[in-house]
Amino acid sequence: VKLYRAVAQELSGMIRGGSLAAGDQLPSVRSLSRSRKISPATVLKAYEALEANGLIEARPRSGYYVREHQKQPIPPQTSRPKANSTRLDVSDLVFQTLEASRNRKVVPLGSAFPSPTYFPWPKLARYLGSSARHLDPWSTVESLPPGSVDLRQQIAKRYLRLGMSVGIEQIVVTAGALEALNLALQSVTRPGDTIAIESPTFYGCLQAAQRLGLQVVEIPMHPTEGLDIEALRTAITRFPIRACWFMTTLQHPTGATLSQPRKRELARLLAGHDIPLIEDDAYSELQFASKPELPAKAFDETGRVLHCGSFSKCLAPGYRLGWVAAGRYSADLSRRKIEASIATSLPVQQGIAQMLRHGGFDTHLTKLRRDLAASQLAAMESLQRYFPAGYRVAAPRGGYFLWVECASQVDSLDVHRRALDVGITVAPGPIFSARQQFKNYLRLNTGHPWTGATARAIQTLGTLLRRY
Ligand SMILES: Cc1ncc(COP(=O)(O)O)c(C=O)c1O
Repeated sequence: VKLYRAVAQELSGMIRGGSLAAGDQLPSVRSLSRSRKISPATVLKAYEALEANGLIEARPRSGYYVREHQKQPIPPQTSRPKANSTRLDVSDLVFQTLEASRNRKVVPLGSAFPSPTYFPWPKLARYLGSSARHLDPWSTVESLPPGSVDLRQQIAKRYLRLGMSVGIEQIVVTAGALEALNLALQSVTRPGDTIAIESPTFYGCLQAAQRLGLQVVEIPMHPTEGLDIEALRTAITRFPIRACWFMTTLQHPTGATLSQPRKRELARLLAGHDIPLIEDDAYSELQFASKPELPAKAFDETGRVLHCGSFSKCLAPGYRLGWVAAGRYSADLSRRKIEASIATSLPVQQGIAQMLRHGGFDTHLTKLRRDLAASQLAAMESLQRYFPAGYRVAAPRGGYFLWVECASQVDSLDVHRRALDVGITVAPGPIFSARQQFKNYLRLNTGHPWTGATARAIQTLGTLLRRY
């Protein structure tokens, strides 16, 4: 990460977190340069980046100050899905978009994954090797679902650190969060049932619902506050909602996080109607704040929340390891896991358990979050510089996606095709919707080191967008 971006990110965190208030003066360039042992040019560049983002302003002969009215980019509008239930037909487009991101030569603004360069591969290899060498042959039998005791203990410890008591008997290890989510959905629905989902939503949710023959009711999303709980309340009175699939923290693709009080309200509402919540929490470890928001599972008093987690985005992409803390459904989930795939690779489970116990997971996370935050800031700067005026975006409090609403006449499918022709991928809005809405939206991946090539790709996209 470029040093100036790290400094700018730290200061922007202090401003957004309130440690530096509107009107506060920032340290002079010279004093920050001395105290941080960095060059004045680096400090100046950091201040310029913050200024370009509308967070601070330079006052002649006085210095830099936190702006009174921070000029934040305008967030996208609250979504307006149709208020009836839908049978699904998720298009080939999802696969086309995924396919295009596989090529390492493209600029991966459409990728769903963070840069593979951000992960501790040598350490992972050491723990994986050691777990395979020391594998007790009997453990292959003893660790059938719900899964390795060592790993489930480590996962339970992470819940405990958040102040949540989730016993290992609740936790079923799966092949990534996606298997957890699919098994959870199978467990709580039958074909023909109706479920509530967010709009926009992760296409994996649409595909799972389609495969299981479910109807979906789309609930609107506010771009920063998250799910519209009032709309959900209304939907519950109108439709026979059998289950909900929601991403309550760093929602995919908007990046919105429901506040803790609203998560509590959600858990209570659903418990009151005996509706299970499948909580898709694949990104929670990527929250930038030092004090992360709890999941809705923390407010689950009746065992109706099936909390699905993953190591794919935060530690070990490609190892295909996730879990579900399934509350009252754990025994059923464990059986379904056996039916689906017998078990998840044991050396992988044990290797990750060792990594969690000894491998400095938190140190890795601190660095990963810092890198992602720095790239997000750089991406916001590039958008401001190169995108035609009138786009809307909100900077999420973590993760690596920006959900950008472009001018209404923009056709993101067309942008996707034209960008691909010049070696850039973008994820077009319609793949995140049961009815191919969000025609003028793009999901941009900021989870890669921000280079000159990435900035140029944003510039090229900006030029493409001007055509509409
Ligand atoms: C919201 C969400 N849930 C689940 C998944 C799947 O996670 P995993 O790789 O652990 O199966 C993804 C991956 O793209 C995702 O974005």
